[in-house]
Amino acid sequence: MIIKNLKIIGFRNLRDLQVSFCKNKNLIHGLNGAGKTSILEAIFLPGFGKSFLNVKKSEIVNDNSDFFSIRLCAADVAVASHSLSETVPRHENENTISSHYETIKAKFTLLLNDKKSNIFEINRYLYPLLFSSSNYNLYIESRTQIRKLMDRFIFGADSLYIHYLLSYNKALKQKNYLLKKKQNLDEIPSWNKILAEMSEKIVGTRMKFIEMLNTEIKNKFDRDLAINYRPSFTNISTAADISQGFFFNQLEKLRQSEMIQKRSLRGPHLDIFETRLNRKDLRFYSSGEKKINLLMLYIAFIQLFKRLKNEYPVFLVDDFDTAIDDRNIDFLMENYPDLQVIATSVNKNDRFDHLIELKKEN
Ligand SMILES: Nc1ncnc2c1ncn2[C@@H]1O[C@H](COP(=O)(O)OP(=O)(O)OP(=O)(O)O)[C@@H](O)[C@H]1O
Ligand SMILES: [Mg+2]
Repeated sequence: MIIKNLKIIGFRNLRDLQVSFCKNKNLIHGLNGAGKTSILEAIFLPGFGKSFLNVKKSEIVNDNSDFFSIRLCAADVAVASHSLSETVPRHENENTISSHYETIKAKFTLLLNDKKSNIFEINRYLYPLLFSSSNYNLYIESRTQIRKLMDRFIFGADSLYIHYLLSYNKALKQKNYLLKKKQNLDEIPSWNKILAEMSEKIVGTRMKFIEMLNTEIKNKFDRDLAINYRPSFTNISTAADISQGFFFNQLEKLRQSEMIQKRSLRGPHLDIFETRLNRKDLRFYSSGEKKINLLMLYIAFIQLFKRLKNEYPVFLVDDFDTAIDDRNIDFLMENYPDLQVIATSVNKNDRFDHLIELKKEN
């Protein structure tokens, strides 16, 4: 998939902006504060229904506006024919994806070809993958952040996954509320039943995905880099252990302790994804080593995505020259000619096919 063009209104400092992209490597360059990261944020938002920054939508709306609006045209790029020297991409299908937010009504809408839509549907036509220099440390250091990253990866591979997560989180919130308020505690088993049902789906999907991702890393890079997935439910040794009944029993056994501690103590929201290099947690490596290995995880994911969906995600790279060193930029350019990259930088760079200068007044 590629993004052909983008129109943004009232989004952060971008009051009214139109940009066209080429199908290969794009670089948005401009001064600090020009709005480069905001453009990537505007591409990301319709794909996930929220920003990659931990902010409310009302904070994104331009200070002098009462709404924001994003409209982009995404095209499927199917490889139509192979010749000896090149593969010829064919634009099969173009789709318009829009997203609006009105501050007064706090109303957020997603549209696909001008019809009301949702992220499950949009996921088929737009999957933005964000790589940024400012969060590589965060992903490795913070268990919550790496879990969020893996969840986003898995959503790319299986759009139903987000449905399981949303249902799980909704039930978890209810259960935690009852535990905290010590109200209607007799309802806990029925919440545990829903949580166990969703846990089976989430843990099962996570296990399968991590196995595929690790195989991809091994085949691509031949190094001892892997994600070690540790579900918070104990004693899972085989896929056969992943069953609603198994999880329900564990939750029921914890009922007394959870009532004393007034919170839910086990479940996928506490699962651990540890990045390991040579059997050692990547947290203990240098920041440069973290960065390069995180990039390898991303590349392995891009490869896996391609294998599963027969197309590439749209790769957004914020502050690319801090995020990726020259050798790896060349690697990306040479090995993934059909991958659309939309990168940002303060500087121009001739390695890119299409340079977009962003002036402050946009
Ligand atoms: N709601 C808002 N309304 C108006 N301006 C905003 C809003 N939110 C953020 N801004 C401003 O938008 C500008 C663009 O921010 P952005 O992070 O996109 O810049 P950038 O080009 O990525 O800069 P850098 O090179 O420093 O990363 C900033 O000056 C920021 O203060
Ligand atoms: Mg920026």
